[in-house]
Amino acid sequence: VGDVVLLDIYEGFAKGKALDMSQGGQVLNYDGRVTGTKDYADIADSDVVVVTSGFPRQPGMTREDLIGKNADIVSQVGEGIRQHAPNSIVVMVTNPLDLMTYHMQKVTGFEHSRVVGQAGILDSARMTHFIAQAVGCSNEDVQAMVLGGHGDTMVPLPRYTTVNGIPVSQLLSDEEVEAICKRTASGGGEIVKLLEKGSAFYAPGSAAAIMAEAILDDRKRVLPCSTYLSGEYGMDDIYIGVPVVLGRNGVERIIELELADDELDSLQGSGSFYKEQLSEILGY
Ligand code: LAC
Repeated sequence: VGDVVLLDIYEGFAKGKALDMSQGGQVLNYDGRVTGTKDYADIADSDVVVVTSGFPRQPGMTREDLIGKNADIVSQVGEGIRQHAPNSIVVMVTNPLDLMTYHMQKVTGFEHSRVVGQAGILDSARMTHFIAQAVGCSNEDVQAMVLGGHGDTMVPLPRYTTVNGIPVSQLLSDEEVEAICKRTASGGGEIVKLLEKGSAFYAPGSAAAIMAEAILDDRKRVLPCSTYLSGEYGMDDIYIGVPVVLGRNGVERIIELELADDELDSLQGSGSFYKEQLSEILGY
């Protein structure tokens, strides 16, 4: 995708990972430079900044349990980005995702379109994977759509989920689809419980890379991302997952799907939950 600077407070960790990845590039034949640092000056003029900084969940925790600790970290990181990469597009990964994306926009003061959160691609990938397993087909042929906040209130949309254009309802029973929606919503927690230390890496990392590529190559991909709403879907002043067009300018368009009443209720319920947290815990 491009040259990558890994920044961590543990300089040796960033440098070691960078060396390991660079040597992996030799095996896999990619040439982008990967360097490690603890100095924000080294991210100068980055086009895209992906922020994963923060504590991961431990088994039994919700993502929202991380708010206080991670908000402080996001404040520091946001300040570094504001100073050293003022023209970048920021892709947030830190949890609780939608709240930390809102906080990052406030700290940097960037336009809302230039601060976007990664969650919908990961959540949709989880749903896609479970559907492909249940149908017995390739991952490549499944398109799933998961909206809402990246937490227990997320909103999987089976009505917008197809297997190469075939509505999933023609291939799986209602009970099977319902079980997949539930497993998708707790998909991150399932991995946290198994790992016991830390949370998922590979799928969130791949999802963030898809977003970076969409931005850098101006792909104008249609992807579910945590995005700032000002009136769309009947919600205002909140970051939450909805489909957007992602290109060189960040979020270039918000797509408003036609939703059934119960789908819209769930999405707005997810929004209200985060709105309360924004005011009660982060003081917005
Ligand atoms: C997950 C974490 C990264 O869903 O939020 O795996």
